[in-house]
Amino acid sequence: MISSKTFFFLAAVAACLMAPHMRAQSTVSPVEKALAFSQKQLKATVLSMPDMLKLPRSTKSNGSWDTVPPEDWTSGFFPGCLWKMYEVSKDTFFLGAAQRWTEVLEAQQYNLTTHDLGFMLNDSYGEGNRLVPNEHYKRVLLQTAQTLASRFNPRVGCTLSWSFGRWQFPVIIDNMMNLELLFWAAKNGGDPKLAEMAVSHGLRTMTTHVRADGSTYHLVDFDTLTGNVLKKQTVQGFADESAWARGQAWAVYGFTAAYRESRDVRFLATAERTADFFIKHLPADHVPYWDFRSTAIPNDHRDVSAAAIASSALFELCTLTTDTKRASAYLAAAKNMLFALCVPPYLAEGTASKAMLNHAVGHKPGGTEIDVSIIYADYYFLEAINRFKASQTAR
Ligand code: GLY
Repeated sequence: MISSKTFFFLAAVAACLMAPHMRAQSTVSPVEKALAFSQKQLKATVLSMPDMLKLPRSTKSNGSWDTVPPEDWTSGFFPGCLWKMYEVSKDTFFLGAAQRWTEVLEAQQYNLTTHDLGFMLNDSYGEGNRLVPNEHYKRVLLQTAQTLASRFNPRVGCTLSWSFGRWQFPVIIDNMMNLELLFWAAKNGGDPKLAEMAVSHGLRTMTTHVRADGSTYHLVDFDTLTGNVLKKQTVQGFADESAWARGQAWAVYGFTAAYRESRDVRFLATAERTADFFIKHLPADHVPYWDFRSTAIPNDHRDVSAAAIASSALFELCTLTTDTKRASAYLAAAKNMLFALCVPPYLAEGTASKAMLNHAVGHKPGGTEIDVSIIYADYYFLEAINRFKASQTAR
């Protein structure tokens, strides 16, 4: 066995003997390499879609993008990726593209048929307004928040998720992600009641969707006359009592954001409980299976989207929690997940995929988007990189 002193001496000699080009390479971190690859992929995607009619959503089996119209729930993520890439690179190619692709969504501010307006408009116009504040973006966002509020039912205390299906008043855990827009609008000239709706929605979701062990139900159906719970179940997860990984990630992210905006400690406690469950059930390589309770594990698919969302959320939650042990556990988990995504097989480098990340699962029980690249995984991956870099400079 060699002593640690000898080991470091040998390592130093090896570094000196390395060819200069190898030494230069070794100083580039995996995050920077993954970012350079992601920048190349995103630029190529922009250049491949000059007509700007539809937006990339997920990849086909040959790796090319399947595209969707602006009404699709995922439409905000592509402009969102462009904003995030502009933020991290300062490359004006991405600024111009972000501005052009954001405008593709303008009519959605009046879309009364979906709860996903937060995903769609907050990740496009909202990101734009954060980075390049302007009155036009602000007006669109305020109108969007009003449109979203039309789905609020005071008896249930929540905004309606799906306007389709066999339920009376379905609310899915994903809907926590739409609250940020309501909080923002209330603070930026919109109706103050929008924040009350957001708090009400968050508190009801906290009691109905989050289980005692910190795992979450995907969907809860409510009675519109009494406001009572009719049924708790899954649609996109493995089973009604399982823990769908992306739903769990939405919960960690959504309750963290609700705490940031409201400072209601009940949201912080819920963000911590859902985060603790997520981290405790991660496999050794830090990228979750698509459902934490799938009985096919370990022979089942991973979901990079859940890892990216949770990593980004934990970079924020570690700065908000007052529990120092949790803060370091959350930062470590956020980094572990991000670093795992920065290299193959999760980074799409060396594959036919036109995206940044590979191995996401959209809707496995529905048989769609299984083990492909998905645009929202890329969006939260870029957000996690931005937050990681901010955490490095804040030290
Ligand atoms: N909001 C839908 C999903 O997460 O798949």
